Amino acid sequence: LPTHFKLNTGTSIPAIGLGTWRAEPGQVGEAVKHALKSGYRHIDCALIYQNEKEVGEAIKTSGVPREEIFITSKVWNTYQTDVAAGLEQTLKDLQTDYVDLYLIHWPVRLVPNETSALFPTNPDGTRAVDRSWNQQETWRQMEAVYRSGKAKAIGVSNWSIPYLEHLEKTWTVVPAVNQVELHPYCPQHALKKWCADRGILLEAYCPLGSNDSPLLRDDEVTAIADKHNVSAATVLISYQVNRGCIVLPKSITPARIEQNLKVIALPQEDMEILDGMAAKGKQQRVNTPLFGHDLGFDDWYGPGNKNAPK
Ligand code: A2P
Repeated sequence: LPTHFKLNTGTSIPAIGLGTWRAEPGQVGEAVKHALKSGYRHIDCALIYQNEKEVGEAIKTSGVPREEIFITSKVWNTYQTDVAAGLEQTLKDLQTDYVDLYLIHWPVRLVPNETSALFPTNPDGTRAVDRSWNQQETWRQMEAVYRSGKAKAIGVSNWSIPYLEHLEKTWTVVPAVNQVELHPYCPQHALKKWCADRGILLEAYCPLGSNDSPLLRDDEVTAIADKHNVSAATVLISYQVNRGCIVLPKSITPARIEQNLKVIALPQEDMEILDGMAAKGKQQRVNTPLFGHDLGFDDWYGPGNKNAPK
């Protein structure tokens, strides 16, 4: 199994990275330090996780040279009119002068107002989305930070095919990755194929199904785990690497951080089971799709998503 994948920039990216979403301040630094000590060389960050300062401090005190670590961050929705400013804030917090990969966090611009600088709402309580903002303009700014050298590669996150088709009309740099929710209940086969045809790798967030995950208890997943004498988490992480996706398990628990570096080769019969689970009805998104709904793209919601609007 590959330990690294190759981005369309020619750079290699470690197949497994530590996710830092919902890793609370006060915990995330320890998790990052433990991960780096355990052999991780890839940390997935974002300005909106509001913990990049602590992540940066942990990277610095780890003693691992910056150039050995692949760091990803993401421009938050309220910074889409000034991508360079979002990146500057992130670079300052992470105490570095470049990121290895910079992503548009969501294909949506939010307009900051007095309700919030990061999660602004309208008087009627809906999110302050700027529907007139063109994502092609955000990407043009992403291409500029790429050319500046402050982002060694650029990509997107939470983009479905309709958004990507729109972006494709004007991009001059092809996104290196699309980071999306990926696990057997949400395998996104069509998106994976669309991206693969254009040299875009998928990155799996919530590969375990996030907190209190039904996937870790799923009888088909646990049967495969038992067969290979590994944990359900190892099966879910291995599934992504076996299908050619970068995988970003989040943990703040030392033993799990270590365990999540382990991947096994899964035989085709197991891959077919994992690939086919959603089509058999086990379709579910675990991440609240915060913004697709605002834009009327209901493809964010799989059947059975408890967060779907009524
Ligand atoms: P914790 O961070 O407390 O260790 P995902 O990566 O899909 O978002 O999942 C993250 C969730 O899964 C967190 O609740 C995390 O808990 C938990 N988790 C991470 N690694 C493992 C593991 N190896 N076994 C069981 N649960 C895990």
